[in-house]
Amino acid sequence: MSKSPVPTPHNNAKVGDIAETVLLPGDPLRAKFIAETFLEDVIQYNTVRGMFGYTGTYKGKRISVQGSGMGIPSIGIYSYELIHFYGVKNLIRVGSAGAINENLKIHDVVIGMGACTNSNYADQYNLPGTFAPVASYELLQKAVNVANEQGTKVTVGNILSSDVFYNDQGLEPLRQWQKMGVLCVEMEAAALYMNASRAGVNALTILTISDCPLTGEETTSHERQVAFTKMMEIALELA
Ligand code: ADE
Repeated sequence: MSKSPVPTPHNNAKVGDIAETVLLPGDPLRAKFIAETFLEDVIQYNTVRGMFGYTGTYKGKRISVQGSGMGIPSIGIYSYELIHFYGVKNLIRVGSAGAINENLKIHDVVIGMGACTNSNYADQYNLPGTFAPVASYELLQKAVNVANEQGTKVTVGNILSSDVFYNDQGLEPLRQWQKMGVLCVEMEAAALYMNASRAGVNALTILTISDCPLTGEETTSHERQVAFTKMMEIALELA
């Protein structure tokens, strides 16, 4: 490529503005909240499309936080650019999910060891079979150790990254995934794991359960905040 791809159509950060480790909440206002609440010496490096990005320090270590939007195409774009144009090495999605496994309750913290998907994202790799998108073992092990030290219970396993929030088939597809031991449903991790695998960098997904689609249970915004803080305390230690 003759012309520098930076700034990109989605991110007006300059090379060097973004730390090697980036937290990726879907909601850009969550990115703002994380930067203002947990980080010191913060700069805002992105405002394009309202998808805010910040860099600061946590316990003296440089870390960035970037909104990644909803769904696989959106996180696909932001994570690809962070990896290939900004040199990011560790990408940690921090988000919410709907429980599928019967033992999971609202507020529980889940770490996505693998991410099943109904998306066609892997089609671009022309593989002679089905790819299994997985987290970085290094980040996963570290996150579990941190959670144990903090006394936060985490459930580690397979999650579902769905392309469909309002499914014409109702809840039946989730019941099918439940039979396969899938823990919960969100909409981004599989693309993040594929982009990271293809580029040889590290990715992890940490989630809090915000709703139980199979039972109709939902959380309040206050309860969501408490669960969110527990998840953040794990993610921030990975810097
Ligand atoms: N994120 C949080 N809850 C979800 C759900 N029920 N389906 C997909 N993504 C979600």
